[in-house]
Amino acid sequence: MTRRDEVLKNQQSLVRALRGSLPYLEEFHHQVFVVCVNGELLQRDAAPKIMEELALLHRVGVQLVLVHDSQLLNQSSLDTSSFPVAVSLRDLTAVQQQIAAINWKFLTKLCLYGHGIMPLSGHFVTARADERFNILEMDSANGVVQEVDLVAIRETLQLRYTPLLAPWGTGRQGHLWILEARELATELAIRLRAKKLILLENISSPLIEKDRNTSILRQWLRQQTSISKINRLRLECMATACERGVTRCHWLDATKEGALLTETLTSGGIGLMVTNTAYRQVRAAKPSDIPQVWGLLSGPIKDASIVMRSTSYLEQHIERYRLFCQDEDVLGCCELIGYPEQQTVEIAALSVALAYRNQGIGRELISVVLRELKKQGTKRAIALSSHEDNVFINCGFKERSLADLPPDKRCNYDSPQSKIYIYSLIEAGKDLITD
Ligand SMILES: CC(C)(COP(=O)(O)OP(=O)(O)OC[C@H]1O[C@@H](n2cnc3c(N)ncnc32)[C@H](O)[C@@H]1OP(=O)(O)O)[C@@H](O)C(=O)NCCC(=O)NCCS
Repeated sequence: MTRRDEVLKNQQSLVRALRGSLPYLEEFHHQVFVVCVNGELLQRDAAPKIMEELALLHRVGVQLVLVHDSQLLNQSSLDTSSFPVAVSLRDLTAVQQQIAAINWKFLTKLCLYGHGIMPLSGHFVTARADERFNILEMDSANGVVQEVDLVAIRETLQLRYTPLLAPWGTGRQGHLWILEARELATELAIRLRAKKLILLENISSPLIEKDRNTSILRQWLRQQTSISKINRLRLECMATACERGVTRCHWLDATKEGALLTETLTSGGIGLMVTNTAYRQVRAAKPSDIPQVWGLLSGPIKDASIVMRSTSYLEQHIERYRLFCQDEDVLGCCELIGYPEQQTVEIAALSVALAYRNQGIGRELISVVLRELKKQGTKRAIALSSHEDNVFINCGFKERSLADLPPDKRCNYDSPQSKIYIYSLIEAGKDLITD
């Protein structure tokens, strides 16, 4: 391969990735993402790239609310001799200066690399003393969020500014309360009904599996005796946010290049995601799905395991397709071809993306389709397959003969190597197709 071919190949894969991100961009437009940035990342070479990724999300219409933690603060600033544990008067100015300096660092980076992001730092949060202070023994946080000025934050977002919050708030009596940044981000995400809470950290999550729901996560946390306090807090924040309505929470190791965009704009993701919403679903196809359906069918068409479908065929018949989706990605599809006189529907062009096969997606797609057909009053579903132990048999289909096909299908039957399978929806008990 020449150098020029290589460049072209890279450019083409970039363009493919951009096209692949379209469904996500559609979904995320005007949605709020609360992003908590580990302060240590600001000192690293990764900082400009992180700012650029934030800028890209901002440019495509995501409403970002940014929170950063303050690595420089330490417990020595706190007067722990009595409760509430306050910043000692002696250190108050020093702490305020430290916070302003860190804020300034973030603002500078955003202004330098944020491609027009307009950060706005303000007095968005009031705080109060944290009764758990002595129990938690966190490094420096001595307060919790009391109130969030949601109106001010929403107005800031409407004006296309990006609220930037440092982890502190003043209390009713003028005390300065230092907050744990992730707890602040969690409160903001919950109160703003954010689509996502994203923790940009300098390490990976201790959980290796990619996706979790909160009950599994909480159970896992109960079993962990040696997990560090800060990691426990990160995971608990994610669980709490999900339980209180934030759709997805992510923990990303932002020292890995592209972590933020890979997690938010691709199906594979890169970090830990916690969610309680069923992000996998079977739904009817719409015209904007045609490129993905075409991509899905191309592989099996090439190796002749399904019949050729052109894009113009898909344009005419896209409403026949049912899709198995993960977020905005189409992982599986099938076509429903009706034979109304026989009250029969053929399940054709069944295909699952190569990387997702043998995980039960084909079976689930068929099960959902059978339920839909039964509801519509269809009497029989038919399918053809040349595969021995096939997915249709697993779903309860029985092998039948040519004579059992609807006459129109029989005329076009030109693949003697394929066996004929039929599922009777009249005989089907509820239990047969509910799993
Ligand atoms: C057939 C296909 C859709 C199954 O999807 P899947 O998500 O992997 O299916 P599931 O995980 O639910 O079930 C796996 C079963 O599919 C069966 N299967 C594998 N290839 C198959 C094929 N070409 N046709 C029918 N069934 C097949 C396997 O026997 C397996 O059964 P097992 O679990 O008892 O071993 C997928 O393999 C595919 O896209 N193949 C290429 C296209 C194709 O051949 N389509 C079938 C046209 S009839």
